[in-house]
Amino acid sequence: MLSLQEQINKELAKAFETAGYDAAYGRAVVSNRPDLCEFQCNGAMAAKKAYGKAPREIASEVAAKLEGSSVLKNVKVEGPGFINFDLTEQMLAGFISEMAADDHLGYGTAKEPKTIIVDYGGPNVAKPLHIGHLRAAIIGESVKRIGRFVGNKMIGDVHLGDWGLQMGLIIASLSESNPGLPYFDESFEGEYPEEAPFTISELEQIYPEASARSKADEDFRQKALKATSELQDGRPGYRALWRHIMNVSVADLKANYEKLNVSFELWKGESDVQKYIPDMLEKMEKDGFAYEDQGALIIDVKEDSDTKEVPPCIVRKSDGAALYATTDLATLVERMKLYDPDKVIYVVDKRQGMHFEQVFRAARKTGIVKPETGLEFLGFGTMNGKDGKPFKTREGGVMRLETLIKEIEDQMYEKIAGNQSVKGENIRETARIVACSALKYADLSNQATKDYIFDPDKFTSFEGNTGPYILYTIVRINSILEKHGDTAGNGRAYAFRPAGSESEKTLQRICAQFSQAVDAAYEESAPHRICAYIYELANAFNHFYHETKILSEPDEQKKEGYIALLRLVRSILNAGIDMLGFEAPQRM
Ligand code: ARG
Repeated sequence: MLSLQEQINKELAKAFETAGYDAAYGRAVVSNRPDLCEFQCNGAMAAKKAYGKAPREIASEVAAKLEGSSVLKNVKVEGPGFINFDLTEQMLAGFISEMAADDHLGYGTAKEPKTIIVDYGGPNVAKPLHIGHLRAAIIGESVKRIGRFVGNKMIGDVHLGDWGLQMGLIIASLSESNPGLPYFDESFEGEYPEEAPFTISELEQIYPEASARSKADEDFRQKALKATSELQDGRPGYRALWRHIMNVSVADLKANYEKLNVSFELWKGESDVQKYIPDMLEKMEKDGFAYEDQGALIIDVKEDSDTKEVPPCIVRKSDGAALYATTDLATLVERMKLYDPDKVIYVVDKRQGMHFEQVFRAARKTGIVKPETGLEFLGFGTMNGKDGKPFKTREGGVMRLETLIKEIEDQMYEKIAGNQSVKGENIRETARIVACSALKYADLSNQATKDYIFDPDKFTSFEGNTGPYILYTIVRINSILEKHGDTAGNGRAYAFRPAGSESEKTLQRICAQFSQAVDAAYEESAPHRICAYIYELANAFNHFYHETKILSEPDEQKKEGYIALLRLVRSILNAGIDMLGFEAPQRM
């Protein structure tokens, strides 16, 4: 089905054409003076040059052709030649009926679905998730869901940091505390135990201790470095320990991501792509893209148009070790081989922008990706406390994600328990769902690239531009529909009627603009577009709700029209929050 915008443009194009002008001038934009009109067309001004005519004259001729239109009404020529207009109530009612009858809310599906990999998460194995990982998870999950709604094949990859020194540190530490374990016995030939020799909480203790020690104790640091390189060279006992670290960590990571409604299609990591590195480097050298400089292997990636310095991409250190860039390039080698994606989107802290600029350029230059493969860096800003500095615990440390989620859930529990609309055991579950919405919406409603102030008092509020406010609106609609005896869930009725009031018309119009909001969010990889849209929709609904007697409306047909509209609003809000990565509770 055509989008609202397309239907309006079609009507305008027809008028321009019959008036003797190029149809392409017939394009509408949402009015920037909503007090005057709903939409406007600036095509007459654009046509001035080509036709050598005063825009007002062109506009008047076009407006005359729109008389009696079933799509547009109140057509007026204003100012230098704007064509201002509103939609007819009939057109709008017809449009949303079609939308409601469609199981994809009139959005349609991509004609040529793309394969898109979203690289988000990036946690480092054996280290607990902390709030630094929150934004990647929340934004990446939403970008993935938006792409999926649009009809693409979306693949989320957690891209674990599972190959670095942190592994060597743990191995070195265990070799001292538990030297009798078979993993350290080089002559051991039996089967290694299936059970890990540590729990997640032990692991989370071992790592920071070992890390702190390595900074003060050079011998220990050397030991950890040696263990790291022996692990990477395939020492069997260390490989077996590594697998234990992975299993224990990944189970814990999964549980934590699950609390955020975040899940990944791929649980790959840096370790998976090490095998591609030797061939990749050899080819880069052979093709003349990489060369030795002071013992290191580098690729020049600067371009004439650069306004800031872009240093060469180092792909091998002088001691032979691979670097972060090497791993990311090798990951692209694998991704091209296994998935041949149309695009890869990296959702990572924006401070890594230069790293990705170098990696992308090196990947293009060396032909790792095709010229048409999109590489997009979606860098996000820092989560700051109310003081404007990076968010810290009260003690000044980095907050664990688990603790943070728990704190927000507890805060929500107090609120919901006080409301008395939810009882008993449901309070916990409801608090969990609402807290998740609060946390995610707070992040997503801000433009990703900007830093944002993490202010739980504000974002857990049931009023204002918050997740709970959106959920509250859905719950309110549910309760009206329930009272009406509507049990069909999202089952739809198409008894829409031309709007009878200003607030009803506004609500219908915003419903009709759903596709446009999705398009913008998708094209710009911008979940905040979805937030802004559903917030506008929720506001329009609440305004309509306060002005309208819905269930006590005596005219049955009118009432059914309201009910149909409520169902549609609910479906759109639900589709919106699903793209943001959270859900609504029954009550709250
Ligand atoms: N593990 C990395 C870090 O903690 C983030 C990984 C981001 N993704 C990537 N493909 N480099 O900084």
